[in-house]
Amino acid sequence: MCGIIGYVGGKQAAPILLDGLRRLEYRGYDSAGVAVLDRAELGVRKKTGKIDEGIARELAADPVQGTMGIAHTRWATHGAPSDENSHPHLDASGRIAVVHNGVIENYEQMRERLLAAGHTFQSSTDTEVLAHLIGEHYEKYQDEPDRAGALTRAVSGALREVIGTYGLAVVSTEAPGVMVGARRGSPLIVGIGHDENFLTSDANAIVAHTREVVFLNDYDVVTMTAERFDVVNLGTDTATVQISKLEFDAEDSQRGEFEHFMLKEIHEQPRTVENALRGRIDQEGATARFGGLNMTPAELRGVQRIIIAASGTSWHAALIGEYLIEGLAHVPVEVEFAHEFCYRMTPVRRDTLVLVISQSGETADTLMALREAQRRGHKALAIVNVVGSTIAREADGGIYMHAGPEIGVASTKAFTATLVALTLLAIHLGRMRMLSAGRALEVLRALEALPAQIESLLGQSDAIRELALKYASADDFFFLGRGYSYPTALEGALKLKEISYIHAEGYSAAEMKHGPIALIEETTPCVFVIPQDSMYDKTMANLEMIRARKGPVIALATEGDDLIGKVADDVIFLPRSQEELYPILASVPAQLFAYHLAVARGCDVDKPRNLAKSVTVL
Ligand code: G6P
Repeated sequence: MCGIIGYVGGKQAAPILLDGLRRLEYRGYDSAGVAVLDRAELGVRKKTGKIDEGIARELAADPVQGTMGIAHTRWATHGAPSDENSHPHLDASGRIAVVHNGVIENYEQMRERLLAAGHTFQSSTDTEVLAHLIGEHYEKYQDEPDRAGALTRAVSGALREVIGTYGLAVVSTEAPGVMVGARRGSPLIVGIGHDENFLTSDANAIVAHTREVVFLNDYDVVTMTAERFDVVNLGTDTATVQISKLEFDAEDSQRGEFEHFMLKEIHEQPRTVENALRGRIDQEGATARFGGLNMTPAELRGVQRIIIAASGTSWHAALIGEYLIEGLAHVPVEVEFAHEFCYRMTPVRRDTLVLVISQSGETADTLMALREAQRRGHKALAIVNVVGSTIAREADGGIYMHAGPEIGVASTKAFTATLVALTLLAIHLGRMRMLSAGRALEVLRALEALPAQIESLLGQSDAIRELALKYASADDFFFLGRGYSYPTALEGALKLKEISYIHAEGYSAAEMKHGPIALIEETTPCVFVIPQDSMYDKTMANLEMIRARKGPVIALATEGDDLIGKVADDVIFLPRSQEELYPILASVPAQLFAYHLAVARGCDVDKPRNLAKSVTVL
């Protein structure tokens, strides 16, 4: 959430910053702003609203000139979305501009102190307080001839007073050509160009300009000009700089022919599932193999219990992971919301493996869970999509989803890629225990069949659109299932509410009768996830209970199921597969259903209100 881009070089900065903001918009879209430096002139423009309706229009009407600058797209934490609360924020002198991701926890205290010292504030944000604090420190270095050094020392001095998290970029009219960045808890990446350099919170924003990057570490402070960059760590006073190469193209984060990123990403799933599988199937051993678990077979065999911690859609993937790992490997699994794992008393036995799941690799709650597990001396693995993200780097080992950049705020392809990774992990652990080669091969073969099966499901998009139109006026939906289909139903409901704002509840089809069935009437459609698996008959009985109360039924059922057409109002057929893989297959039409319904209701599918792609505050 919130995005930062900074540029210093020989080109006009504003178009580069604006392009970067558009690529970062999925990180937050309450408001956006830029500060461009033309020698000693600072041009600041900020505007509420999405990029194209807000800051882009503002810049067209009132352009800024200069070859360096910083920009920010905001997801409000402190202070409502407004022009004043948008970044950049200036210090008291108006010479220093700051953009910031994260939360300064002790800002009230600082604000009081600064107010008492005569400062006045234009906004109610923590970032403006930080800008004033940097300005106050800068006063001390007024007369130093080394302007870059002075700005860096001012930023470092201010950060030493601050409690909280930050990814930030700072420029000053006193130090033209110099940009200072710093990170703690919020990602920041240096992009290395030829006679130009970039600073960003998200590699997507700069991949069109450079592939060479440095992922900064917590407490790193970087001082950057067009020609060079120097990194110092506030904790150690030294820094190790490791240059990495980005492995995706700028086109990967473009919409192409699709109307929305979400639709593009739904359609990418045959390829992303294939990528998540590539090189990981060991036919001969009837198992899965991974390059980065960093655990010996003996260590893996010693695991007696697994805790999976995650948030949002990744938490739903974790719930499916519980069924997979318990079903295939017979290892007891407990799934925790990442934030609950951190803050409640969660006794973790010595022989427990902690696994965190995060597509962005930056979710603050999940990062905290990872660190909490490690603090208690546990090995912690991670399933992550974004290569080089904080969780990917801090985990003891893990599995990459290989889904490529996911821009739509509602996760689709990263979710199914996570399920592939979890299935493979369950097989890997299962084959070290009692899972038979025959059973493992059945699931592995079914995994290999998925790309073509998903392709055929995507072919039903028009029919699913018709269905969505039929139900577009409903105010409430239920998504119901049992066994593997229960967490699948939770995710189906989340997708619908995230992007269409329709109230949707995922529930166990069996548990429904103990309460929520009171809500069923003719206007309450129920989406039943009811593949022909071991729970089929039981779920069918639950479906009848809904029918008896006149609830309309939409079924996600298996091809060849002759009965379902007689009891459901509408049916979407899934290709036949193994029980373990129906969550992946059922999720594709559920995503399309949510998508078409949201479009029919005129919602902004890629940038749903109040949400951000990854939430880097606790
Ligand atoms: C945010 C997003 C959700 C996402 C969750 C976890 O809240 O809006 O869509 O599921 O973060 O994200 P992660 O990157 O950790 O998987």
